Amino acid sequence: MQNQLITDKAYINGKFLRGKKQFDVINPADGSTIGSVPDLDATACKKAIDQAYDAWPAWRDTPVAARSAVVYQWYVLITQHKEALARIMTLESGKPLAESLTEVDYGASFVEWFAEEAKRAYGETIPAPKAGQRLVTIRQPVGVVSAITPWNFPLAMITRKVAPALASGCTAVLRPASETPLTALALAVLADKAGFPPGVFNVITGKDSNGMGKELTTNEKVRKISFTGSTAVGRQLMEQAAGTIKKVSLELGGNAPFLVFDDADIDAAINGAIAGKFRNSGQTCVSVNRFLVQDGIFDAFAKKLTAAVKKLRVGNGLEEGVQVGPLINQKGLEKVKAHVADALTKGAMLLTGGKAKKDLFFQPTVLADVPKDAYIAREETFGPVCALFRFKTEEQGIALANNTEFGLAAYFYSRDVNRCWRVSEALEAGMVGVNTGLLSNAVAPFGGIKQSGIGREGSKHGLDEYTELKYLCFG
Ligand code: SIN
Repeated sequence: MQNQLITDKAYINGKFLRGKKQFDVINPADGSTIGSVPDLDATACKKAIDQAYDAWPAWRDTPVAARSAVVYQWYVLITQHKEALARIMTLESGKPLAESLTEVDYGASFVEWFAEEAKRAYGETIPAPKAGQRLVTIRQPVGVVSAITPWNFPLAMITRKVAPALASGCTAVLRPASETPLTALALAVLADKAGFPPGVFNVITGKDSNGMGKELTTNEKVRKISFTGSTAVGRQLMEQAAGTIKKVSLELGGNAPFLVFDDADIDAAINGAIAGKFRNSGQTCVSVNRFLVQDGIFDAFAKKLTAAVKKLRVGNGLEEGVQVGPLINQKGLEKVKAHVADALTKGAMLLTGGKAKKDLFFQPTVLADVPKDAYIAREETFGPVCALFRFKTEEQGIALANNTEFGLAAYFYSRDVNRCWRVSEALEAGMVGVNTGLLSNAVAPFGGIKQSGIGREGSKHGLDEYTELKYLCFG
């Protein structure tokens, strides 16, 4: 059956337009072509920014109840088209269909949450230090927002940025990853149906990530840039945005530790480990990258984890029961191969997996006693590999966990309530999962510290990122 949400057109100023040039979108599970989308460039970006800029005053001045109603209608349409959206996502990203369905719910929850939360963008009154004065703050939308989103969550990373932007009265220009533009355009089809006025939301596709990124970060009409992706690219975008002092939100790389203390509930830790490591085949910024396991529980944990990993079913995400899909591309596969080979050369023990399968698939892998100088200890692997490191004391575990320039997510398992507080406070991360391997949702602030980023997404804090705080002093 034809998927009604697949389009070959970009969305600018309320119109769907084909490009002079188009590029193919490839299914990583089998290399087949799913469709094509416009291969636009910096000039098209500039036009879209102009349209968003012109659309801004009317959208900003639309009462919040009316704005929120359109955003809410977008949410309704996304949930009504859950199956079609999920299939597009699996086709272009490779993630198992069950995960794509979950991502539609996850992504839609941001739209619902921000449609509501925008109504509560309160200011405050401040007791004045002088007689005859009245002090007040108000929150106002920042203006045109540019959003650059990754391929690993083709839907949720868009709604997490665009929904708060639009709900708070900004207009937006989105450049989705060129691996997964079809989900973004499907969202545009639904946004158009929901009734956003022309120019309020624009989606431009193209392969020229440098040229488009430069326009989106340097154009004076853009007041805020929100990016999810690698730390290297985030650094470059931040430098470019500095020229016009834009507001910046960056959700960047991670190197998440997952500590298992001797007093942990081992079965709960195994469940958390599988959930936190194998979501999207390990291709998430909050994926566990380093399992740090205390000496007394190391062997039992390694044995049970290996047994659980051996049961994972690898294959095309559209097949029933598949839990681990392909990696997104050859570059991703080569990195996983290099990390595993390096760890083995340096003395790690292979407990299961360790090899590439056909095409872009890699066997779910467990490595034990990985040495601390292995690449995998320092860099995000972004693949289905569990690397187990050993530690003796709580202090050593925490020191190992914090021994990274990244600080996005961290996880740990312990049944000691005092330890839970101590370790939570000591871990250098923006988010800590205590006895859980999954922590993302719309109502909590998602974001990192150190070189994992700036700003928060989701929650009331995620709305603040799209508003300016203005102080009024009445004499
Ligand atoms: C990411 O990998 O960038 C996002 C993961 C999430 O939202 O849970």
